[in-house]
Amino acid sequence: MSEPKPSSPNADVATLRSPPKHVAIIMDGNGRWAKARGLPRALGHKAGVEALRGAVEAARDLGLTHLTVFSFSTENWNRPQTEIDALFDLLRLFIKRDLARLHKDGVQIRIIGAREGLSTDILDLVDQAVETTKDNTRLTLNIAFNYGGRGELVAAMREIARMVEAGKLKADQIDEAMVSRMIWSADSPDPDLVIRTSGELRLSNFLLWSGAYAELIFMDVWWPDFTRESLEKAIDAFRRRDRRFGGLGD
Ligand code: FPP
Repeated sequence: MSEPKPSSPNADVATLRSPPKHVAIIMDGNGRWAKARGLPRALGHKAGVEALRGAVEAARDLGLTHLTVFSFSTENWNRPQTEIDALFDLLRLFIKRDLARLHKDGVQIRIIGAREGLSTDILDLVDQAVETTKDNTRLTLNIAFNYGGRGELVAAMREIARMVEAGKLKADQIDEAMVSRMIWSADSPDPDLVIRTSGELRLSNFLLWSGAYAELIFMDVWWPDFTRESLEKAIDAFRRRDRRFGGLGD
C-alpha cells in the first residue's frame, strides 16, 4: 500500500504545482480600512483602486494571463447612494486615468456583469476601453462590475431558453460546455484561484459557475493593504495545494 497523500497544503519544493494562470479577487475590506483611520468609506475605495493598480502590475509581472476583480456586485446597489456614486466615479476615473498606461502595458480590459442599470456614460466608457484594448495579449483584466454569479447564470439560462423556444436547440443538447460559452465571463478560462481579502470566509455570489474548481484563499488583509507580496504569498500557497478536480490525483 502506498503512503497516504497529505491533503493541502501538501508539498515540498519537488511537488509544487504550476502557478495559476487566472486569479480572481474579491477585494474586500475597503470600508474597514477607512474606518480604522477615521476616514470616510469612499476614501477606502479610493485606496482600493491604488491597490488594484499594484495588483494588475504584479499579476502581469508574475506571468498571470487573467486577473478578475470584483468591483461592484449586484448586491452593492443596497448601499447608500453616496457610496454607489463614489464607486461609479472611481470606475470612471480608473478608466480615464489608467486606460492609456494599461493599453501600453498590453493589458486587455473586459467587463463582466449586467449592462442594465448602468448609465450610458459608463457603458460608453467601458465599451471604449474594451474596444481599445481588445488585441492586447499580455494580461486580461476582467472587471466584474454590476456582477452577480446568480444573475450571470440566469442570463445564460434565458439565452439558452430563447434558443429552445426558437427551435434552434433541443433540451438534451444543453451541456456544461454550452453554459460555459453563455456566461458573461465566457471569454476567459475558469479561474484557478479565488482570493478574498479582509478575513471574510464567503464567496458572496462571485464566479459561481466558472469558479467551481478554483482553489480558495482567504487572506487576513484589508484590500487597500494588499501588495505584490500578498499576491506572491497566495500564489505560493496555491502551488502547495493538491488539485484533483474530483479525481484521485496523480
Ligand atoms: C468591498 O469592500 C469592496 C467593494 C464593494 C468595492 C471594491 C472596489 C474597489 C477596490 C475600488 C473600485 C475599483 C474600480 C475599478 C471601480 P467593503 O466596502 O465591503 O469593505 P468593508 O467590508 O470593510 O465595509
